Formats: sequence, structure tokens, C-alpha cells
Amino acid sequence: MSPGATVVVAVPDAGRQLPGQPRWALMSSLDGPVSLRPIDTGDLEIFFAHQLDPEATRMASFPSRGRTAFFAHWTAHILGNPAANNRTILLDQRVVGHIGAWTDATAGERLLCYWLGREFWGRGIASAATRLFLGMEVARPLVARVARHNAGSIRVLERVGFVRLGEESFAQTDGTSHQEHVYVLREWASGVGEPDEAQRGGV
Ligand SMILES: CC(C)(COP(=O)(O)OP(=O)(O)OC[C@H]1O[C@@H](n2cnc3c(N)ncnc32)[C@H](O)[C@@H]1OP(=O)(O)O)[C@@H](O)C(=O)NCCC(=O)NCCS
Repeated sequence: MSPGATVVVAVPDAGRQLPGQPRWALMSSLDGPVSLRPIDTGDLEIFFAHQLDPEATRMASFPSRGRTAFFAHWTAHILGNPAANNRTILLDQRVVGHIGAWTDATAGERLLCYWLGREFWGRGIASAATRLFLGMEVARPLVARVARHNAGSIRVLERVGFVRLGEESFAQTDGTSHQEHVYVLREWASGVGEPDEAQRGGV
């Protein structure tokens, strides 16, 4: 990490319970503070593995990239884009995924995206990371495009205050067509998306 880089920390909704999960399923030894830090090139190997997961690519309706294409894309268009704002998501000190925003050259939209390794899903980490990120990504409106079937991502967006604008179809690089919801966050309202008392208190 570069000297002076900002690290922000939040405690995810400790003790949250997923539908159908017993109470003990929450007692993971990995539960702990979520934080964001600038991306180290050493993190890319982990992100590469995350985007190879077929369940994740199905969820996101986004095909995985091969190694050469992945590293070229991240080096040139993500880490190499000074107008992009990307962070590694940590749970305690473990790299669990990434979150970022960039400006789409064609539409001019400032877009939000996040991606976690599957072993970390369902613990409130993306929600906590998004709340943190929205404090350091000040551009508004901020747009998120999410596959219509991606219930987890939709839940994250709505929880932090994104509002559904409509639905569009998009053509993927493999030629397939998908339906996506378009969400927008027009402003950051303090308190929006904070866990309610029941969540805060755990089970
Ligand atoms: C989408 C993603 C970031 C969510 O991460 P996460 O840490 O699991 O998200 P959170 O735990 O903060 O919140 C997910 C919420 O969706 C809910 N959820 C997840 N899958 C669901 C499903 N199939 N149906 C209904 N709700 C679902 C969870 O229960 C949780 O809600 P709750 O807190 O009320 O219980 C993660 O699954 C991921 O990285 N997926 C692959 C990449 C991707 O889809 N990125 C987004 C592209 S727009």
C-alpha cells in the first residue's frame, strides 16, 4: 500500500442470518471488520480466481476472462485509468474482493461494480464495503447495472439507497443478450442503508 493511503473500516452486520441458515452458521471465524485499501498488483491473482467462478459469472451475467486478457484489462483499463476509483475489500486482513467506480466513455455514466470470492458471500461484506466506498466515491449520480436475476447485488444496492430507474437489454461480448436493471444513487443520505436495530443486535 502506498504511504498515506486511506483505509476505512466498518464492522459488517455481525450475527446476520441468511434465510434457511441456522444460527450457528453465522459464527464464522472469518467474521470481522471490513475495510478498503488501494489495490496492490499482488491482489490481481485473487481477483482473477474470483472471476473464474461459473456461479459468479452467471450471477453477474459477465463472462470470465482468460489470464492474458484479464491481466491486460486490469493493467490498462482499471489500474491504468487515473479517473477510476478502485479498492480492495478486506475482511480482517484477508483480501475478499474488490469494489470500484469508473466513467463509461460511451454513456458518460459513473458506474459502480463489486465482486467477492464465493466463500465470502452472504455475510454482509458487500453491503459494508459499499457503504464505505460511497464515502470515498463522491460522484453523483452513481449508476449500477445489474443482471435482473442477481438478487444478492440488487439487495446490496437497494440497502444503501440506490433506486431502480428501469430495465434495459445488453449484448454480452459472447453475443448473448441479457436483461439488466439500471439503478441510480442520486445523493448520499446519511443513515440510508444502515443496518436496522434487529440486524445490529444479531440473532
Ligand atoms: C453480489 C455480491 C457482491 C454480493 O455480496 P455479499 O457479500 O454476499 O452481499 P451481502 O451479504 O452484503 O448482501 C447480499 C444480500 O442478498 C441476499 N441474497 C443473496 N442471494 C440471494 C438470492 N438468490 N435471493 C434472494 N436474496 C439473496 C442475501 O441474503 C443478502 O441479504 P440480507 O443481508 O438481507 O440477508 C456477491 O454475491 C458477488 O460478488 N457475486 C458475483 C459478482 C457479482 O454478481 N457482482 C455484482 C455485479 S452487478
